Amino acid sequence: MNERKFKISTFKILFMKVTISHIKADIGSLPGHTVVFQPVVDEVRTFVKENGKSLISDFYVSSIGDDIQITMIHDKGIDNADIHELAWNAFKAGTAVAKRYGLYGAGQDLLKDAFSGNIKGMGPGVAEMEITPRKAEPFIVYMMDKTEPGAFNYPIYKMFADPFNTPGLVIDQNMHDGFVFEIWDIIESKKIFLGSPENLYDILGLIGSKSRYVIKRIFTKPSHEKIPDENVAVITTDKLSFIAGEYVGKDDPAGIVRIQSGLPASGESLEAFSFPYLVSGWMRGSFNGPLMPVSQKDSKMTRFDGPPRVVALGFVLKDGKLSGPVDMFDDPAFDGTRKTAMEIVDYIRRMGPFEPHRLPEDEMEYTTLPHVLEKYKGQFEPIEGAVRKKNLGVTTREMD
Ligand code: F6R
Ligand code: MG
Ligand code: MG
Repeated sequence: MNERKFKISTFKILFMKVTISHIKADIGSLPGHTVVFQPVVDEVRTFVKENGKSLISDFYVSSIGDDIQITMIHDKGIDNADIHELAWNAFKAGTAVAKRYGLYGAGQDLLKDAFSGNIKGMGPGVAEMEITPRKAEPFIVYMMDKTEPGAFNYPIYKMFADPFNTPGLVIDQNMHDGFVFEIWDIIESKKIFLGSPENLYDILGLIGSKSRYVIKRIFTKPSHEKIPDENVAVITTDKLSFIAGEYVGKDDPAGIVRIQSGLPASGESLEAFSFPYLVSGWMRGSFNGPLMPVSQKDSKMTRFDGPPRVVALGFVLKDGKLSGPVDMFDDPAFDGTRKTAMEIVDYIRRMGPFEPHRLPEDEMEYTTLPHVLEKYKGQFEPIEGAVRKKNLGVTTREMD
């Protein structure tokens, strides 16, 4: 490549960055945590359309269950105050409509009164990435309801690190070096970058604990021939209870995954959802259940407030404009997955309030246990001859 040509392409790359911002919130539903109400969705859409003209080049408003989702395209980078404020104000406008109709949970996820520069930590979930768009830039927005950010750990791992899901990792030269996982410890507010396949078992060691270690982003490696060192997937990791200090509703997550040409193919990305794996966050944010892939029209939460569902919308981005979406799970190819999911529902529901259907005590969104213990305080008697376990914490098995 001659020097001039190199300069031109560097110049072009520098000025061609585009940002995809996906921001979502539950601002009220009908009749209760079930499904969004069309006039509220319409208000959010109209607000973004009328107030985003000078800020964004395109957008799409969608929903899953009781959550409204705004996907925006712009050139302002991630964490941009104007973009976040646009989404915040759109949700505020939608909340006013929700209140007018007396919707259940109107304004539920808007935890602060006034916008203060960044929507993060204010209630809505945020997933954003700044990218250098390829000639064709296809991506899928995944949205989940009645679950938590860690629900993305399993499918993202399958897409970007499991050759049995994504044979491209083996047979596509551009994927063969693997990817970099940015993993957040959402309890300690720390993050770590680990490469796959070289750190595969360590990655799994962490992300198997999905209520604590969550995948935030996936990057290509610098050796990737087509898109070196780029952000190719991002997930919302916002925990409402950490913000409000108490249970205020579930942190139903969403994620953006770029696909094709050195990345998981569209079908490799979807394949990760062909097994209805168990996620937490169902009924009262306190139960495990299978994640069921559904079409947009089937994204309402009915049986036992669920079961937890995922919707996938496929887009192509060109010159700041979106084509699509394609409702990816609106397909009989996923009927088998849905049937298995409902068999798991019938099975697990019979356990009622018992673990592992019900979550362990410390992961439940709310519990009456402290009240029950208080009520019977002083009535618990020592068990004769029993030795009290000193260390109730996690122990490491020692080899001799
Ligand atoms: C779970 C969820 C619902 C509610 C349940 C009780 O994430 O949103 O299952 O937890 O319907 O709701 P409240 O307490 O608002 O009556
Ligand atoms: Mg809700
Ligand atoms: Mg929800």
